[in-house]
Amino acid sequence: MKAIAIVPGTQQVNLVDRPEPKITMPDEIKLRVLRVGICGTDREEVAGGRADAPPGQKELVIGHEMFGQVVEVGGGVKSARRGDFGCFTVRRGCGHCPFCLADRSDLCSSGDYTERGIRMRDGYETEFVVDQEKYFVKVPRELVAVGVLAEPTSVSEKALDEALQVQQARLGINGSGDDWVKGKVALVAGLGPIGLLGAMALALRGAKVLGLDVVDKDTLRPKLLAQFGGTYVDGRETQPSALQTNFGQIDMIFEATGVARVEFNLLSALGLNGVYVLTGIPGGDRPVQLDGAAVMRQLVLRNQVMIGSVNAARKHFETGIADLGLAQKKWGSPVQQLITNVVPYANFAQVLEQHPENEIKAVIEWSKPS
Ligand code: BGC
Repeated sequence: MKAIAIVPGTQQVNLVDRPEPKITMPDEIKLRVLRVGICGTDREEVAGGRADAPPGQKELVIGHEMFGQVVEVGGGVKSARRGDFGCFTVRRGCGHCPFCLADRSDLCSSGDYTERGIRMRDGYETEFVVDQEKYFVKVPRELVAVGVLAEPTSVSEKALDEALQVQQARLGINGSGDDWVKGKVALVAGLGPIGLLGAMALALRGAKVLGLDVVDKDTLRPKLLAQFGGTYVDGRETQPSALQTNFGQIDMIFEATGVARVEFNLLSALGLNGVYVLTGIPGGDRPVQLDGAAVMRQLVLRNQVMIGSVNAARKHFETGIADLGLAQKKWGSPVQQLITNVVPYANFAQVLEQHPENEIKAVIEWSKPS
């Protein structure tokens, strides 16, 4: 079968032949890969950045945002059967820290975790994959068109979950984090897939959503934001200091730009007791100059928290898939419109090496659903 592999640390990316994986254990599921999304991490990998081949191998099969259809299940599998749709999660636990032992490898505290398609484990840019049932998350048939968004949605959901749980706990809110965010002003910075999916999840929870980017108002990102009920802020025209004057106190910033300069600039817009959650992973070295004393003074005097959030637990995939369903019911097509570029696997270079301005989510198609 075909697979897209890189040699980590170089810019070599090739279509290679790999043996088709077989089910060897009763708890395994085999998926035919339908689509795999491309994100900044994949592009960094093919540019020679952060990626590690499995031990003893030179190449790494890339791809972690997967969506597939079950073709075979092991004798002990209970939750899936042939024909079902779903995805495998990304991270695999270290096997010894308390978080991984409790199936929360997204919080691995030893740092010895692996990630399919990123760190020491082959990924999903290939025709078939096999993994354990515990890593499989089902996607209902009515969400087939957006199933490939399950992983990026899980990343947005985890970031939101962490921020809301912290606020609920420290501010002594009755109920859940969702009760805190209802009616609050949340600024989403960066209207790529993670930002727009974060905006969607925030809007579903009743937040007043502002979305900041540096594109023209009549382009697709601001249009999709508006369909989720959000208000667009053009970062080229509005300075962070003007945000509070224009929109009232900002209670939460959900950062999805991956640009350190923007991340720190925006901090000055955060209001009292505010929470700032970061999801972007800046690539390369682009040092920023920062008034450290001002940042520390603000965090302390305004009683704020900054949280970094990476990866996602199974529950975040499940919440994400449920939210994609709710969003599709509530707003119709904007969720689907997030997928702007679909290319057959043979044309992988087109989406891995280029990043057109009007692209939101690019995906590689391996097969069609049946
Ligand atoms: C992926 C996460 C992963 C992270 C760090 C992101 O692009 O979506 O699943 O944990 O990179 O490798």
